[in-house]
Amino acid sequence: MTTTTGFDHHSDAANEDPIGYYARFREQCPVGHTDAHGGFHYTTRYADIARIARDDENFSCSREVAGGEGTAIVIPRGAGIEQYPLELDPPRSGQYRDLINPLLTQGEIAKLVPMIARHATRVVDEFIEFGSADLVRDLTNPLPAAVTLDWLGFPAEDWPKLAGPIHDIFAAVAGTPRASRGAEGLAYMDQRIRELIRERRAEPREDAVSVLAAACHPDGTPLGEEELVSVIGLLIAGGVDTTTSLTGSVLVHLSRHPDQKRRLIESPDLLDGATDEFLRAFSPSQSMARTVRADVEIGGCPMHAGERVLIPWVAANHDPAVFAEPTEVRLDRDASRHLAFGIGSHRCAGAHLARAMFREMMTQVLTRLPDYEVLEDGLVAYPTRGNQSGWDAIPIVFPPGQRLGADGGAVRRLAVTETLAVTDVATSADGVLALRLAHPDGTPLPAWAPGSHVELRLPSGRLRQYSLCGDPADEHGWRIGVLREENGRGGSAELHALAAPGATFTVRGPRNHFPLVDAPDYLFLAGGIGVTPILAMVREAAARGADFRVVYGGRTRSSMAFVDELRAAAGDRLTLLPQDEAGLPDLDALLKGGGPDTAVYCCGPAPMLAAVERACAAHGAADRLHIERFTAGDELEVAFDPAQNTAFEVHLARSGVTLQVPPDKRLIEVIRDAIPGVSYDCEKGYCGTCETRVLAGTPEHRDSVLTEEERAAGRSMMICVGRCSSGRLVLDR
Ligand code: FES
Repeated sequence: MTTTTGFDHHSDAANEDPIGYYARFREQCPVGHTDAHGGFHYTTRYADIARIARDDENFSCSREVAGGEGTAIVIPRGAGIEQYPLELDPPRSGQYRDLINPLLTQGEIAKLVPMIARHATRVVDEFIEFGSADLVRDLTNPLPAAVTLDWLGFPAEDWPKLAGPIHDIFAAVAGTPRASRGAEGLAYMDQRIRELIRERRAEPREDAVSVLAAACHPDGTPLGEEELVSVIGLLIAGGVDTTTSLTGSVLVHLSRHPDQKRRLIESPDLLDGATDEFLRAFSPSQSMARTVRADVEIGGCPMHAGERVLIPWVAANHDPAVFAEPTEVRLDRDASRHLAFGIGSHRCAGAHLARAMFREMMTQVLTRLPDYEVLEDGLVAYPTRGNQSGWDAIPIVFPPGQRLGADGGAVRRLAVTETLAVTDVATSADGVLALRLAHPDGTPLPAWAPGSHVELRLPSGRLRQYSLCGDPADEHGWRIGVLREENGRGGSAELHALAAPGATFTVRGPRNHFPLVDAPDYLFLAGGIGVTPILAMVREAAARGADFRVVYGGRTRSSMAFVDELRAAAGDRLTLLPQDEAGLPDLDALLKGGGPDTAVYCCGPAPMLAAVERACAAHGAADRLHIERFTAGDELEVAFDPAQNTAFEVHLARSGVTLQVPPDKRLIEVIRDAIPGVSYDCEKGYCGTCETRVLAGTPEHRDSVLTEEERAAGRSMMICVGRCSSGRLVLDR
């Protein structure tokens, strides 16, 4: 039954506290109808919002599907920004996605990182000597604008002319002088886009507008100017201001939570994971809408063809059924299921670019303005229309710094996904190799702190994590220790076989889920190859002048790696316990010997971790115990183990090609190699971007997007993780 409520996401109450506003409706009437703004349905729960966003059959992105103009409950229209790709349904929307996706893949965006870093350094150089700035005016607005416009091919003189108006388009309240400025800016943008299209058609260059201007429809006819204006206008307006909003919100949050700012500065590898949590918590694009195509029921609320329905990402991202204590920002939360970029076939195509720009701005601020403070009195909130969140002005003060200049040296990266080469290989113990990895061109690697790990992608496709065990001061090399596991799933054997100077691997990281906390003293417990993170921690504790003891056990003395280095760092505070000589450690005695604030760090095989957990619980030390389960693969690794996979054939019906998918390749990789423009984002089966219709065959689902019902029906699948259990699949591609 439909309940009509007084819901209005444009109301002052909603604008002041959208999260609390949606939470109240979620509790009282999670799906309902309102007469506001011509009448529409609203939703508040993650499950309902994700379902509607993914269901292109029953919900249309167009506001005109029922004939005539629908209610404009979310996005304003304007000259030059007709939102075509955003308001089209598959398969037509797919034509535009096919056009822009190849420009926005993770690989293509990785190539833009040096350009983004250059702009970020330049933008910060312009104010770093002054000791004060407005982060919106001076950083979070001009940087995304310059990057996006430069990437598209706009000349430098356009960047400042368009940066402000892009912000005004969404921030301006109708009828104000600012709205007129925004409208003038849109008109100027429209004119410049048209001029650039014509220029690039006459004389193509190496930029995105040249690629778009040369694009054709499937029937071979070139894209019309109006279509291109819409696509390019959307890339500018959609990409820039959401990144501005997110970065501003995060910088305000970190000024208010200096403990989290300090954590990110000390463990910069946390930033990648925390980015998802920031996207979840601050949801820069707050909502979208759909038009109902056929009578359906959502959450007990009947919806009829032609009616509009609001799907607020911000409400989904704060649904306690999915994210515990959602109003808290937790840097180490796994927030990867957030809907800040949407879900399904309309998920934001520019997510990788947005993340790259955000990362660069955060890198600049955390490394060059680490002590910035927001002047709370001067904050000006974004005058939202229920769709955008963020800030209009963020005044800050900070100790003045130095300009880096055009060639002023790179700001050290926070994390990488790059190809690194092995520079040294040494045998450290029976079956243990110590490898040093470095950038082939000598570029400094991101900083890391003890407890960090990196992820290597092996040629077979296997992903394996290894703790860093070298010296954090060595900015040109990372060292890892690799135990050859005779009964493992093949990753360590593969790496041992390939480990030779010059061998290259794609490496991601570093990440740190095992940071060394401040404590008066430490008890370090290492078992077997679990010594690798402990080695870096012992060195750090010694450098801090902290009290500590180290107990290192292994099967036999000859199987214990890095003993000499551990002894050099720990001296007589090291106890070696080869099991065949000394048996297992006396955990009770060790824990009794510690103080009430001793931090206990343990890394080793599962039985050892279980024993240490039991002992700590018995001694009241459970809350001081920090453990690293180095043997457990992550979700993706478990989902993709070539030894568990079988080969199959896939036929792409629209393209007419038949491909073989071997056990060691993902389905999406095979398809991507054969046809351009395949949409994907997370590649872990949770974002829904790569969902593909199955025409024949039995898919083997490994995602977390589809419901049990959808899995059983087998009509669609996530091709980034899914495979086939019937030998042959036919996909609608
Ligand atoms: Fe995210 Fe496949 S790319 S589900």
